Amino acid sequence: MQIELKIFRYNPETDSESRFDTYKVEAQPTDRVLDSLMHVYRNEDGSLAFRKSCAHGVCGSDAMRINGRERLACKTLIKDVAEADGDSILIEPLRHLPVQKDLMVDQSEFLARFKKISPYLIPVDKAPESGEYIQSQLQRDAIDDATKCINCGACYSACPVLEINPDFLGPAALVHATRFIFDSRDTGLDERIAVLDQPNGIWACDNHFECTKVCPRGIKITKLINMTKREIKKRKGE
Ligand code: SF4
Ligand code: FES
Repeated sequence: MQIELKIFRYNPETDSESRFDTYKVEAQPTDRVLDSLMHVYRNEDGSLAFRKSCAHGVCGSDAMRINGRERLACKTLIKDVAEADGDSILIEPLRHLPVQKDLMVDQSEFLARFKKISPYLIPVDKAPESGEYIQSQLQRDAIDDATKCINCGACYSACPVLEINPDFLGPAALVHATRFIFDSRDTGLDERIAVLDQPNGIWACDNHFECTKVCPRGIKITKLINMTKREIKKRKGE
């Protein structure tokens, strides 16, 4: 089938405004959108900028908006976004982050918010004599969903709260906070509460569920955020 890719183009260093360029591409329904982007890059316009690395849904680098919804280009099949010959697929960068070039966004602010919640294990001072921080299966299960995050930024782009409150910490940082708060080996709850228990922290989440709908890893983001809200209330004796 032949499809049409309508791709957002913008180079802040040379362009006064953004535009959409259209490319006609031959594709199989089972090809991925990433394959078509690579085709354009290799055969039609080598100046097209987008990120990709693993091409298998693991690294999170090719999150973008495809037909108005956040997806990984490497996990989105043409047949999922274009039904018939001649159909057009709209491809845009993630929202809420500055465009570096075309489909590439500057992730600095996204990563800075992620860093704020101390995204690493803060264990007890003295390691167990065995040298291992052992967990039961149940304890591991408690954090399983949150460990699946690949930092793609899809949830950050889909979040309606960030549209009206750009200072909101954002869903991905909250998922990572949950991942460590509920880790039986971690002792950093108070340190993380100091960051989360703020007007632009966890309480700014209004339960829109848009993050949960777009997460390519199927993480129940809103559920995890609400779990952490309850844990903070419990800790504060509310
Ligand atoms: S929670 Fe899901 S959507 Fe958000 S950054 Fe992690 S993998 Fe991506
Ligand atoms: S390229 Fe790694 S997730 Fe798509």
